[in-house]
Amino acid sequence: MENLHKPVMINEILSFIPSAKSINVIDATFGGGGYSKTILEKINVNQLLAIDRDSISKIFSKEIETRFSNFTLINDKFSRIEEIVKNSKFKDKKFDIIIFDLGTSSNQIDDAKRGFSFTKSGPLDMQMGLSDKNAYEIINKYEEKNLADIIYQYGEEHYSRVIAREIVKNRKIKFINTTLELSNIIRKCLPKKNHVKNKIHPATKTFQAIRIYVNDELSELKISLDKTLKILNKDGLILVVSFQSLEDRIVKDFFNHNSGKRWRSSRHYPELPDKLATQLKIITKKPILPSASEIFENPRSRSAKLRVAQKV
Ligand SMILES: C[S@@+](CC[C@H](N)C(=O)[O-])C[C@H]1O[C@@H](n2cnc3c(N)ncnc32)[C@H](O)[C@@H]1O
Repeated sequence: MENLHKPVMINEILSFIPSAKSINVIDATFGGGGYSKTILEKINVNQLLAIDRDSISKIFSKEIETRFSNFTLINDKFSRIEEIVKNSKFKDKKFDIIIFDLGTSSNQIDDAKRGFSFTKSGPLDMQMGLSDKNAYEIINKYEEKNLADIIYQYGEEHYSRVIAREIVKNRKIKFINTTLELSNIIRKCLPKKNHVKNKIHPATKTFQAIRIYVNDELSELKISLDKTLKILNKDGLILVVSFQSLEDRIVKDFFNHNSGKRWRSSRHYPELPDKLATQLKIITKKPILPSASEIFENPRSRSAKLRVAQKV
């Protein structure tokens, strides 16, 4: 299987990683292995632990495993990051760098069989791996209100109610089986001037919502960020690349709360307790964005935001 994923903002990531001492790294989203491979090639790494929930990651790790004896890949969800460390040969170790490059890889999106793409016909699946639901059952079985709430909450789609109503109307005639069938139903719900004005495909927000829900992506992120604090060394860095605003808000809030600030920008984050102990220092006051040349070469990088914080 050819690796189609181009690593996003890898030079910016490398610029934060210290090169003088030998470090322990977690690549929590191995994907096609772009980050892991570059870090192993360019940085003085003691051990690199990679995690990915998708079993296809094992295909892309083969070459790296033969080249680097200090590399280990675990096929699991990053919400279990602490347990993964505790149950492995790393159980007595702490880490200097923990990186999350969120969302899906091109190897997942571009494979029509996985059902992530609204431009190629595939089964309604959208599982990244180790998920307990799939898009077909949500689209064909969930009640209209529940569907509308998911599309609104995780896609921030203003036409969520209309879209949910149309999905239910269509599935009464015939089950909705493919991504293109779903995409065509959504297209008819949005006024045409909206597609043109927003310059995004009309199905973008709904597909994002279903994917986030199928893979429980926001909970995964919140749980794992909390756990990173227990396995980071003093002065260790958390680096997070996110691709949509719901994730970015979670990261921003997490960094703020744990660096002594007390404010809440995401309704997905629980109400705040009294001021938390200061465990982090924010390194990137504003998120770092990809360069114009990277966006030109890899348009999928255009919505990326990198935030970095340091354990104190
Ligand atoms: C954007 S890709 C990472 C690409 C990688 N940095 C590279 O250079 O090839 C995101 C990867 O994270 C994985 N992923 C997403 N959520 C996950 C989770 N909760 N636990 C583990 N892996 C996850 C996906 O399966 C996907 O392979």
